[in-house]
Amino acid sequence: MIKQFMWKKRKILKGLIRTNRSRVDEPYNPGRWFDRFYECGVSDRQTIASDRDATLAKYHYASVELLITRHLVNHGIHVQDTSVFDIGSGAGYWLNFYKNLGAKRCTEIDVSERPTKYLRAKYNDDDSVEIKKGLFQDFLGKT
Ligand SMILES: C[S@@+](CC[C@H](N)C(=O)[O-])C[C@H]1O[C@@H](n2cnc3c(N)ncnc32)[C@H](O)[C@@H]1O
Repeated sequence: MIKQFMWKKRKILKGLIRTNRSRVDEPYNPGRWFDRFYECGVSDRQTIASDRDATLAKYHYASVELLITRHLVNHGIHVQDTSVFDIGSGAGYWLNFYKNLGAKRCTEIDVSERPTKYLRAKYNDDDSVEIKKGLFQDFLGKT
């Protein structure tokens, strides 16, 4: 319990230091930041907790899935045959989630090169999936 508390505090502190350092060195550039982030590989585990037990990533996605599913059920939202736009797709966990719920079309956008390449290769033969690379702000501004 105490160990976990200390680990969390340490993680927050490291994040603050990293953020402040990058603020001094260069302005935040999401493309550059996430290209570096994905240098170790593209996977759900890498996105959430590459340096920790895989169970943590499972726990994270299970918890968020529960929240989204509860929202869908409580608001009578049906994903079946809809189009989904996933911002910051990463390794594509949510693409898979919405496809499994019956989404007819999934459009993904990510600013980073590696996850974009990864998902394009994975869904190369799937016409219902479109993978875009870029800032979602630019994409939304264009439509
Ligand atoms: C923490 S990851 C989450 C990935 C995925 N949604 C998940 O939950 O597993 C955030 C993702 O958003 C992308 N991203 C960050 N800022 C973005 C922006 N302005 N436009 C598009 N993608 C962005 C990053 O490259 C990264 O892949």
